[in-house]
Amino acid sequence: MSVVLSKPKRRRPQWHRLTVASVDRLTDEAVRVSFAVPEELTTTFDFSAGQHLTLRRTGADGEEVRRSYSICSTPRMLRDEGVLQVGIKQIPDGEFSGYANSGLCPGESVEVLPPLGTFGGPPAQRWHDGEPESRHYAGIIAGSGVTPVLSIAATALETEPDSRVTLLFGNRAAATVMFADELADLKDRFPERFHLIHVLSREPQASRLLHGRLDHDRLVAIFEALLPTGDVDDWYLCGPYGLVTGARQTLIEAGVGTDHIHTELFFAEEVPPPPRSETSVAGGTELTVVLDGRSSTVTMNPDEAVLDAALRVRGELPYACKGGVCATCRAKLVDGKVHMARNFALDEADVAAGYVLTCQSRPETENVVVDYDA
Ligand code: FES
Repeated sequence: MSVVLSKPKRRRPQWHRLTVASVDRLTDEAVRVSFAVPEELTTTFDFSAGQHLTLRRTGADGEEVRRSYSICSTPRMLRDEGVLQVGIKQIPDGEFSGYANSGLCPGESVEVLPPLGTFGGPPAQRWHDGEPESRHYAGIIAGSGVTPVLSIAATALETEPDSRVTLLFGNRAAATVMFADELADLKDRFPERFHLIHVLSREPQASRLLHGRLDHDRLVAIFEALLPTGDVDDWYLCGPYGLVTGARQTLIEAGVGTDHIHTELFFAEEVPPPPRSETSVAGGTELTVVLDGRSSTVTMNPDEAVLDAALRVRGELPYACKGGVCATCRAKLVDGKVHMARNFALDEADVAAGYVLTCQSRPETENVVVDYDA
């Protein structure tokens, strides 16, 4: 192991303790957690609609638990009210989600990383001949996948006076719909520009078209009857693996360009196991990690993820999901070659620029250098 000093380039996101202002129940298995952001941290926690927060706590067994949760509030609420909100749905055996849903109380403080993620980004207002250009955004979402899309929809409706938003929202039943009141409020505030289509799998609807799962055939039928794909400028897909990948494929088959389809995947555990690297370095790899302008080197096994090896020498490295979903572990590959088993977080431009998800990267050369500051 060796340590070399070099010039710092980019500051790593730092953990901050934020006070919980409120915990509001959304459904039997989901809550909204509101954090009070002090004025001096407003800039640090500034975000684009669609981003997420990474939260950290020590579990009952003494192990550190990190989880990423999408922000449901808007950048305006942070600026005007100093409030940042996330939606947390309880999942079976979910240590953090279980705690948030049953033990977390107002007044407690939680360690939080500043917002990360590239889903959607701000629906920036476009102009044409001096007039704001109207856009039509559509979401195909299911369950807790509504969380970041609520922020994107509210931001678009509030900041683009002529733009429209349509959400196709899949759930089991009306009682499991997260943010039902907030969506109804958006409908009240923007009746002409916001359209919400509920699709329920276990509860009959007036229209048979809206009863069932948001699978390929139902999406095609809904596009034909209610939401022509040619009428939409940008699509936002968020939810479980099957919904996101299936809806993306259906949109591509309908002729929608991939640069108009934005995806955010929840539930990394549903993703099929990654293929193994075809090439591996039998004798081990010397891995060099650059973080905060400081280089550390460690020898790693061929079957090990770069992140896991790097954490042995730099325990402060950023990561959250370890499933290729959140991009918190993103770094630039400066030297050597790695095999990235799965990637649901980096776009083509990131990959072309040499960025990798270190939690998904296994070495294919004897030397590998990754830079977390780049
Ligand atoms: S830690 Fe989430 S993608 Fe690597």
